[in-house]
Amino acid sequence: MKHWEHFLEPYKQAVEELKVKLRGMRSQYEQNTDHSPIEFVTGRVKPIASILDKANQKGISLDKLETEMQDIAGLRMMCQFVDDIKPVVDLLRSRNDFEIVEERDYISHKKASGYRSYHVVIRYPVQTINGEKNILAEIQIRTLAMNFWATIEHSLNYKYKGQFPKDIRVRLQRAAEAAFRLDEEMSIIRGEIQEAQAFFSRKKDLQQEEN
Ligand code: GTP
Ligand code: MG
Repeated sequence: MKHWEHFLEPYKQAVEELKVKLRGMRSQYEQNTDHSPIEFVTGRVKPIASILDKANQKGISLDKLETEMQDIAGLRMMCQFVDDIKPVVDLLRSRNDFEIVEERDYISHKKASGYRSYHVVIRYPVQTINGEKNILAEIQIRTLAMNFWATIEHSLNYKYKGQFPKDIRVRLQRAAEAAFRLDEEMSIIRGEIQEAQAFFSRKKDLQQEEN
């Protein structure tokens, strides 16, 4: 147990730092533009039980976790619109506090399950009392609709251990299709939505000034 705590410490540190940094991107947008492409940011260190399960499933030996398990540190950035995702990825590419080692585009190429998201794997330097340690972290960028679907599918996956009854599998595929159409519909009226959001955020600012 002591060993795990020691192993996970830099990952915990990285997740905390990256949450602050990526949330900082959101607040900068909010201060400088009418529309932030980032709605909210979450982060977690993978629980030990999940690390062991995944290592077991993928045949990753425990002494290779550092290089072969890319999502021990995981961050998620949620966007309102599909078109927000590309600018967010571009911003991640332009940063110089980490290096991108891999990108996986499950938006242009959705998974057979129906899963859509853009994945960026980074190498992030953590400053420890024993010097700098580079760790891998996975950032998933997705819309609110993609996130809704993935969250529901993930809980069902857990319940059924990946072996969905056929009716559930069909429902999930239909739900994925519906989430995709929702993103498309929202894209079409994006201008309208953003105008309204900008209007209400300006109105709120004015009210705050009055109070
Ligand atoms: P993992 O073994 O899960 O890492 O898959 P992989 O090595 O093929 O990497 P990939 O980039 O495909 O997936 C990494 C992460 O994406 C997972 O840990 C999940 O968070 C998410 N993900 C991938 N596929 C699905 C899916 O079908 N459903 C849901 N809910 N999440 C998924
Ligand atoms: Mg992976």
